Amino acid sequence: MPGFKKTVFVYLLLISTCSYLPVEPVSQNISIGFSQLTSNDLWRQTMNAEFERFAMLYPEVNLEIRDANDVSTQQIKDVEYFIDKKVDVLIVSPKEADALTPVVEKAYKLGIPVILVDRKTSSDMFTTFIGADNVEIGQQAGNYTKFLLKGSGRILEIYGTKTSSPAQERHEGFFEEFEGDENYEIVDGGDGKWFAKSAEQKIREVLEEDQNFDLVYAHNDVMAETAYKVATELGIEDNMYFIGIDALPGKEGGAQMVKDGKLDATFRYLTGGRVAIETAIALFKGEDVPKNITLNTALINTENVDIYQNEEERIQEQQKILEQQQQAITDQLLKFENQRLLLTLIFTLLVGAILILIFLIKASRAKRKINAELKSTNNHLNRMVETNNEINSVIGHDIKTPINSTLAIAEMMSDSLNSDEPIDIEEIQNFSSIIQVSVKSISDLTNDLFNWSRIQAGDLKIRKEHFKIAEIVDQTVDLFETMTSFKSISIETILEKDFEVYADKHIVATIVRNFLSNALKFSSKGDTIYLKCEEINDGWCISVKDEGVGMSDEVCQKLFHKEFHPSRIGTKKEVGTGLGLRLSKKMADLHKATIEVQSILGKGSTFTFRIPNVG
Ligand code: FRU
Repeated sequence: MPGFKKTVFVYLLLISTCSYLPVEPVSQNISIGFSQLTSNDLWRQTMNAEFERFAMLYPEVNLEIRDANDVSTQQIKDVEYFIDKKVDVLIVSPKEADALTPVVEKAYKLGIPVILVDRKTSSDMFTTFIGADNVEIGQQAGNYTKFLLKGSGRILEIYGTKTSSPAQERHEGFFEEFEGDENYEIVDGGDGKWFAKSAEQKIREVLEEDQNFDLVYAHNDVMAETAYKVATELGIEDNMYFIGIDALPGKEGGAQMVKDGKLDATFRYLTGGRVAIETAIALFKGEDVPKNITLNTALINTENVDIYQNEEERIQEQQKILEQQQQAITDQLLKFENQRLLLTLIFTLLVGAILILIFLIKASRAKRKINAELKSTNNHLNRMVETNNEINSVIGHDIKTPINSTLAIAEMMSDSLNSDEPIDIEEIQNFSSIIQVSVKSISDLTNDLFNWSRIQAGDLKIRKEHFKIAEIVDQTVDLFETMTSFKSISIETILEKDFEVYADKHIVATIVRNFLSNALKFSSKGDTIYLKCEEINDGWCISVKDEGVGMSDEVCQKLFHKEFHPSRIGTKKEVGTGLGLRLSKKMADLHKATIEVQSILGKGSTFTFRIPNVG
């Protein structure tokens, strides 16, 4: 079914075109792997949230965060994982500088852009470092300490993890400020490891033994708050200042500790999430990025903490609004995508339905055509069968009789010639007339059969020409000479000699012959047959009138029906299937002419062939 295959092909083509219709420009995806040293404290949680928030603003960014749970060996594995995954950009906040250096170098050497945030490794094999300047923070803390202590004092320094870069740098900057100044003493309070829990034990050990401190400088706010807590428990908090680093906003943050009077100062230490995501995208695009991106810092003390918190609150609110808007956009995009999918589906189904419809219409048309062809073939076949039957019945009936009678006469003549009493000349004449009439009837029937089958097969074409009707009439009447004398019947023709007509000569001759043959069949000795040709209103006509047996109205009406075989026997016992009259009717129809019959039982019949001028 090639039509169907074509339809299916067009359909599939359309579907595939539809599904590739780009609705929005597709940007290349960026995979970013972020190895976070821990997520167990507020600062790191704030950092992760910032990473996720800003990654969300860039739909092309696929961010994966891995938490090493404050274990360096785990963090090395995490970095290896991102290397294997072939991330486009690797971000690391290394727990310990030395421990993470080899794996970070490995990634860098493999050509992966590496961003270090907040903490550094021990080499410069990385692409960019993003973070505040911890040496500077240490210096500012030292400066402020000097301001608070006014010339002299004993300072307790609580370290972050000593193997991490911020702890080393925060110490370095702070220490620098007091170098060579003997009025100040800085006591190593030990490695607090950045957490309250780990720091508390160390602080308690130191303070329980020596309470003579003027200031505690802790490398982050959590440890500074812990020192304040331990000092409060020992009842010495009022004798001391407490300085921390981070200044996180919010209820749990360092700013609130200042506000609550627990800390005297803290330093803003940004997490750098936004800058890290933006830098990763820039690196992916191949843009130039500086080796060091330094985030700014600020001192937060009792004097500016309110302004700072207000400002932070405002930023937080704006952030929330931004997030809501972002969420709304994402929802909208999702809706839009769903609608697009739905539309594509509806469109595809519609196109499918139209194509199926077209296919069905085509199929039904083809079916109708085939049916029509079948019908016409069937009709043709029926006509052929009918013709065949007709021929069979004519051969079996009409032709058999004259052949048999001819044969019988021939036998009789031969027998008598061999006998003692041969037939006389009069009888021979009589026999020869019968033979002539029989052969004539066979010849007429053969002609009629031939014409009949040509009509049925659609082979008989009308060929009109101008001719004098007298020619055809005379020739036809001559054909019946033997028959008329045999039956003692006379034929009178009434027509003008030069009367010219425009018609198919062959059809006119056949019809006249059949009219005459029919009239002769039913006429009796001494009767006259009138053959008349004349002009009428819209054409001309030929009529054959006999004085024979005539027909009832019922027979008249059925005369041309194919089911009707009158098989009326003629006055000299002539038989016949009525083929001649039916053939005449068919020929008249073909010629767009008519045949009329008028008859009175016992008085005779008139057959009229009317030919209109037109056509
Ligand atoms: C959080 C934290 C911060 C500190 C930073 C230094 O894990 O300890 O408090 O400022 O790390 O890397």
